Amino acid sequence: MARRIFVVSGATGKQGGAVTRSLLKRGHSVRALTRDPAKASNLRTLGAEVVEGDLRTGKGLPEALYHADGFFILTTPFDKGFDTPDYDSERRQGRTALGAAKSAGTPHVILSSATGAFGDSGVSLFESKAANERRMKELELPGTILRPATFMDNFTSAWGLESLRAGVLSFPAPAETRVELVAVSDIGEAAASVFELGSVGFGETIDLTGDARTFVEIARMLGSWIGRSVHFQEEADPRAKERFGAVPTAPDPEEERRRIEREIEALEKRWGLHMTRFPTFLGSTPVPRLDSER
Ligand SMILES: NC(=O)c1ccc[n+]([C@@H]2O[C@H](COP(=O)([O-])OP(=O)(O)OC[C@H]3O[C@@H](n4cnc5c(N)ncnc54)[C@H](OP(=O)(O)O)[C@@H]3O)[C@@H](O)[C@H]2O)c1
Repeated sequence: MARRIFVVSGATGKQGGAVTRSLLKRGHSVRALTRDPAKASNLRTLGAEVVEGDLRTGKGLPEALYHADGFFILTTPFDKGFDTPDYDSERRQGRTALGAAKSAGTPHVILSSATGAFGDSGVSLFESKAANERRMKELELPGTILRPATFMDNFTSAWGLESLRAGVLSFPAPAETRVELVAVSDIGEAAASVFELGSVGFGETIDLTGDARTFVEIARMLGSWIGRSVHFQEEADPRAKERFGAVPTAPDPEEERRRIEREIEALEKRWGLHMTRFPTFLGSTPVPRLDSER
């Protein structure tokens, strides 16, 4: 595949970082967008060109998109922190980035959305992404929507480790809820593959899931990972429940598991992907050390 130029937003974060690594590994050029180039030296070391830009204001976007072959758009409501989500900001990031792609005539846009962003969910976390998906269709941009499931990496990040060490995994949903999961590195591989496939992916919305586990199973596996027993506790705070929305519990959990497994196989086959299962992900993820252990 000929070397091509891709603009990646959110490159200093998890998804954009993974997309950047996958594209560079395949020999492409990456313009890694950040509001603060000073914090992107690792991306430069990897071989990316670091470009200053802001999806809210549009600063730097025309220059970044000049003669680019593709644009990976990552929007976030958490630009001011996880405890103060700003969904209007996420809509604005989407409108600005998609508008810039339209003006620049960018040949391929990938918009990163989320599983559940099908609209009218009533959950703010999904509504802003659904609005951006609608905007992309209104603008008739040549492109693909990726809807990643919950990141496997959430469960192994340093911020959750203290609680796991205390033997507890908590989330605002019932213990038997089956959660669809994806490894962030697989989002990078999926975006790179879809860019390389070009027009094959135009107009497609791709749900990215690599596994589906109940919270009870996740707690048990995380326990093996850190070497101690972990139990699941449903978080009761109604604000937390509102933020993530109700995940319906399937009437037949075993059939639900088989259905999702069939969907993962179809996803792998259609797009030539290999989706990481949760035990494999844990097996290749070192347990982070807490500051107190350094
Ligand atoms: N965690 C999950 O399980 C999950 C699952 C599905 C979807 N999602 C969605 O994934 C998104 C977050 O992705 P992530 O976890 O990969 O991000 P992340 O690691 O939290 O990093 C956020 C990135 O967004 C960039 N950013 C923030 N505001 C920006 C702006 N105004 N202009 C340009 N860039 C901006 C930051 O870049 P700079 O600071 O360098 O500018 C940074 O690279 C959220 O929308 C979330 O809802 C999360």
